[in-house]
Amino acid sequence: MCGIVGAIAKRSVSAILLEGQHRLEYRGYDSAGMAIFDGENLNRLRRAGKVQQLDDALKATPLPGSLGIAHTRWATHGQPNERNAHPHLSGERLAVVHNGIIENYAGFKAELQRKGYTFTSDTDTEVIAHLLSEELKTEPEFYTAFRQVIAKLEGAFALGVIHADFPDQLLCARKGSPLVIGVGIGENFIGSDPMALLQVTDRFIYLNEGDTACISLNEIRVHNSEGSLQALDIKRYEHGTQSADKGQYKHYMLKEIFEQPGVFQATLAGRLEQGRVNDALFGEQESQLMRDVKAVQIIACGTSSHAGMVARYWIEELTGLPCQVEIASEYRYRTTVTLPGTLFITLSQSGETADTLAALRVAKERGALATLAICNVPGSSLVRESDLCLMTQAGPEIGVASTKAFTTQLAALMILTLSLAKQRGLSAEKEAELVAALYSLPAKMEEVLTLSSRIEALATHFADKQHSLFLGRGALYPIAMEGALKLKEISYIHAEAYPAGELKHGPLALVDSDMPVVTVAPGNELLEKLKSNMQEVRARGGELYVFADVEAGIDEQEGYHVLSLPKVHPMMEAILYTVPLQLLSYYVAVIRGTDVDQPRNLAKSVTVE
Ligand code: G6P
Repeated sequence: MCGIVGAIAKRSVSAILLEGQHRLEYRGYDSAGMAIFDGENLNRLRRAGKVQQLDDALKATPLPGSLGIAHTRWATHGQPNERNAHPHLSGERLAVVHNGIIENYAGFKAELQRKGYTFTSDTDTEVIAHLLSEELKTEPEFYTAFRQVIAKLEGAFALGVIHADFPDQLLCARKGSPLVIGVGIGENFIGSDPMALLQVTDRFIYLNEGDTACISLNEIRVHNSEGSLQALDIKRYEHGTQSADKGQYKHYMLKEIFEQPGVFQATLAGRLEQGRVNDALFGEQESQLMRDVKAVQIIACGTSSHAGMVARYWIEELTGLPCQVEIASEYRYRTTVTLPGTLFITLSQSGETADTLAALRVAKERGALATLAICNVPGSSLVRESDLCLMTQAGPEIGVASTKAFTTQLAALMILTLSLAKQRGLSAEKEAELVAALYSLPAKMEEVLTLSSRIEALATHFADKQHSLFLGRGALYPIAMEGALKLKEISYIHAEAYPAGELKHGPLALVDSDMPVVTVAPGNELLEKLKSNMQEVRARGGELYVFADVEAGIDEQEGYHVLSLPKVHPMMEAILYTVPLQLLSYYVAVIRGTDVDQPRNLAKSVTVE
């Protein structure tokens, strides 16, 4: 999704903005631009494509100056070309960058055109620039005019604005899309997330919904939506143990897959001790609250929703609580029945996904007992707006296709399940067994990672395929879904997942020798059923790619390509079997030569609905 960076300083800011744009690349984008005030004029440079293209253009045409805004755009209104790239100008002295969607832009556009404004892009953003110009005709104060314009806008947005006639002010606003202010010494910044600004500061003000800010070299004024001046809450960014560079790996995604044993362990740390789940996961007072839980509702998008689907199997089996899982964009717009005593859980790597955030707000209105965010980004909107949070310790995840965030979500969800189960009669013996099984996982993941060259060899069979099918049963069904999602996200091969029992209700019609069928087949109580499904595939000439453990007793034979995985506790299979599927899609994508870390059309952080 779009990324914003802005700076007001005494030094030249173009390198700072550019570095920020590079750091925001992981979010997904299709064009980039920058506008800087050089003391006299406002100069702008934009390029379709990668930030590197803007970088190259800046070498030929440097933009000097110490007040500027920059942007990476993920197209919503208008094609991803230079003309639609941000910043957008009104006249030659005012520039705007925008993340989000202005829903009521069309009426304003018509009105502004009648007043003689010329539009040079197809974006909704340009309306904001001209509205502000119009407002400044009657309101001499820049920040006041800006807030008057904000009050007129409907939709979701984060904005950064500069004006050549007001060179000591960088203005910004946040409603529905994330924005932070980076606090420097005698210089200040704005960014879509702290990562964009870590090269210049580690102190941040996280803007709240509806906030606007007027930023100068030595002063920051933040107002809430009612217009009250806010006390500044400056937080120091906690650097995690993982750095945000690729290190020895060819892609972030591969690095992040290989980090999983470590970050999984880190997510367990402090929450389990001596074979038991920490009794006060959320503190003493909250323990009583958790005892009052009568039902669980989980909401998420994308990969995070698959973690929720796995957790449903665990929660219903170990706690006896009814557990529903729903995609956030569905939940928020339909009439739902909230069971009394519902613990409402949101799952999100970023904590900024627009639909998940909106669902959380809706859930509060619908009367949840408590809201809990399982999230990877401290200080994110989701964390700040939830009653409770359980942080995953995945560290920065840069690859658009989520990997380590998913397995650490599963770690957090298993811990939560055990904590709820304990309060509902889980025996100490069973608890110790499951805690030991959780602890054994990092080492088993390491074992799976040693199989990467075998998985790479399997991947060659997929390279020329157009379609594929993933089958699983029980908690391995959502893992099949996650495997299929990974493959389509980064290799662009159409991949569908089915609960294996559904095979003969439709997908079997697709099976032939051109349709690789992946099965996740640990030797558990559902294995015999799954074996029958695999035979149905073989009988139609389908090629099977089977991820199984030694106890599954499935041998390599014609049509069966078997990857043997370590044996793991049945409750932990979903976690372990994720890893080889991630590697499979990674290697398929590498062989096909796609952009693994930034797949086409996708964004890491989906901050518009
Ligand atoms: C995007 C990302 C996915 C992610 C989903 C939900 O689609 O590309 O990797 O699973 O958003 O993101 P969240 O940050 O809420 O987990």
